Amino acid sequence: MVVRDTRTKKPHLKTLLALLTMGFGFAGAIGAHAAANPQAPAGAGKAIQQDQRMQWFKDAKFGVFIHWGIYAVDGVGESWSFFNGDMSHADYMKQRAGFDASKYDPAAWAALIKHSGARYAVLTSRHHDGVALWDSRQGINVVRDTPAGRDLVGPFVDALRNDGLKVGLYYSLPDWSYADYDVFTRKEKRYLLKEDPARWQRFLDYYQSQLKEIADRYNPDLYWFDGDWEHNASEWQSAKVRETILAHNPNAIINSRLNEYGDYATPEQGVPVLRPASRYWELCLTMNQSWGYQPRDDQYKNANQLIHVLADTIGMGGNLLLDIGPRADGSIDERQVRILEQMGRWTGKHAEAIYGSQAGIGLEHFHGPSTLSPDRKTLYLFIDGKPSGEVLVKGLDNRVLRARVVGGNAPVGHRVLGKYEWSKVPGLLYLEVPAEALDADMTVVALELDKPVALFEEEVKAIESN
Ligand code: GLC
Repeated sequence: MVVRDTRTKKPHLKTLLALLTMGFGFAGAIGAHAAANPQAPAGAGKAIQQDQRMQWFKDAKFGVFIHWGIYAVDGVGESWSFFNGDMSHADYMKQRAGFDASKYDPAAWAALIKHSGARYAVLTSRHHDGVALWDSRQGINVVRDTPAGRDLVGPFVDALRNDGLKVGLYYSLPDWSYADYDVFTRKEKRYLLKEDPARWQRFLDYYQSQLKEIADRYNPDLYWFDGDWEHNASEWQSAKVRETILAHNPNAIINSRLNEYGDYATPEQGVPVLRPASRYWELCLTMNQSWGYQPRDDQYKNANQLIHVLADTIGMGGNLLLDIGPRADGSIDERQVRILEQMGRWTGKHAEAIYGSQAGIGLEHFHGPSTLSPDRKTLYLFIDGKPSGEVLVKGLDNRVLRARVVGGNAPVGHRVLGKYEWSKVPGLLYLEVPAEALDADMTVVALELDKPVALFEEEVKAIESN
């Protein structure tokens, strides 16, 4: 029998290869990020079962990434602008004088994030430039070294939690400004680890004590590491870092960029073409071409396009982490606000098809993204644009009990054509979506099924007897 539950699908070799090469690249990176290893060895014993730990993340589907730092003052590339030699380190650091956070309103940030339909947000607590957004004991920070003069992380964490949102903190393992870190710029290295292990140890002590500060003060739900490509797991002591985090908070989630010691994969900037093999994954994406605030960058994807990206991502079982880059004063560019608001309209209306959903059926069955309810008895079809006729679903071995448009429940006409008694091939399911119920961005149709979704996936042969 060929009708099967989609969960049993074996990862295709091509999918595995694609994962290895897929969107792990980024401007100027040296090497690829390792895919998350769901059975990360260290600390796993102490941690709550991964399934339980990952549950909120898996259900959340949509998060907002926030790149905020002194780079917003001149609107230059976050950290990379001095690393790549576009400007000197000294000039880059002069931006500290202009970082005042004078309009920073974390409650308004949280309200906007909530309104967008995101269920979590991730703030850059310290990027590769080494400028921490809290008053860390060592290194450069905005409290001591900029006119902002106060902790910016704490109020963010509190505001998010007040609004019932989960808190993620981004932390760059490399600190290119720190005197004991080996890499300074693309061209300049301070020293070789093997020649001065004591100096490297000083760096390890520094960064791990910063992580301890973050854990003790803010206890984030999610640690979003970055920059692991500059050293291997043993040089970073990734196993120990994972263990320490989970000992402090057994529920914490760690992204993949701690070498192989993370919980989920983080493809970047490219909507995956094939479904990633990793059980948990999150696509991080900029709205325009920049992570931080770059006012001249007008290459924005519009809300409609981003809604399609979100649908595509959740249809493959992933999360979307969509980035904003606030200005140096803490205000958010209108273009970014508008996108989040427009996404909020769509996510609010289609909540039942988004949150807590599972990856849907393959494109061979329906020419668009789809998701499934947790019991797999409701199939959500994301319909692009204005259909020219009836919408087709192929190879669905279920009876449709009810079909409706999500967000209003307008009934959807459905009929099966081309079904033959003697054949086990399911007929062609045609859906007639009422034109007046179409959504301006993307319409979602819910099919309530008689049993968990069952798909026919056999090669159809010529008739053998008649
Ligand atoms: C890359 C870049 C960095 C950015 C990050 C976001 O790793 O180095 O600038 O913060 O991607 O995913």
